Amino acid sequence: MHKDTLHKMDDRIAGANVMTYYADEALSWHFDRSEFTTTLLLQAPNSGGEFEYLQDLRSPDNPNYTGVAALLSGNLQTSICPQTAGTLNVFKGVNTAHRVTPVEGETPRINAVLTYYEEPGKRFSAEEHLDFYGRKT
Ligand SMILES: [Fe+2]
Repeated sequence: MHKDTLHKMDDRIAGANVMTYYADEALSWHFDRSEFTTTLLLQAPNSGGEFEYLQDLRSPDNPNYTGVAALLSGNLQTSICPQTAGTLNVFKGVNTAHRVTPVEGETPRINAVLTYYEEPGKRFSAEEHLDFYGRKT
């Protein structure tokens, strides 16, 4: 990422998230708010639950709505990032469209999302805690 220094979030809830996807659960196409995203796959499902992406679909000066519409219509070539338990994935989620395909089988997909910033002291507001986690602290 060409960063001199990174700081973990100063937030006891949002600094590290662990998400579990059970059979038929998925995460839809989206971009992240943060410039880059760090994930660590803790457990891979038997099948499905793949990390699918399209790098640089948009840029800071071009939201590329036409390209996003084409992606959502299934008209763009995407890639799968093969992952097994222990895979560390660092990607530019702000411009890379990505999703998790539906998990198949009994073994859930368990993924940790670790958030870092160039400035220390970053934390969610009380409203963001409520929106993301259903509680304020
Ligand atoms: Fe994301």
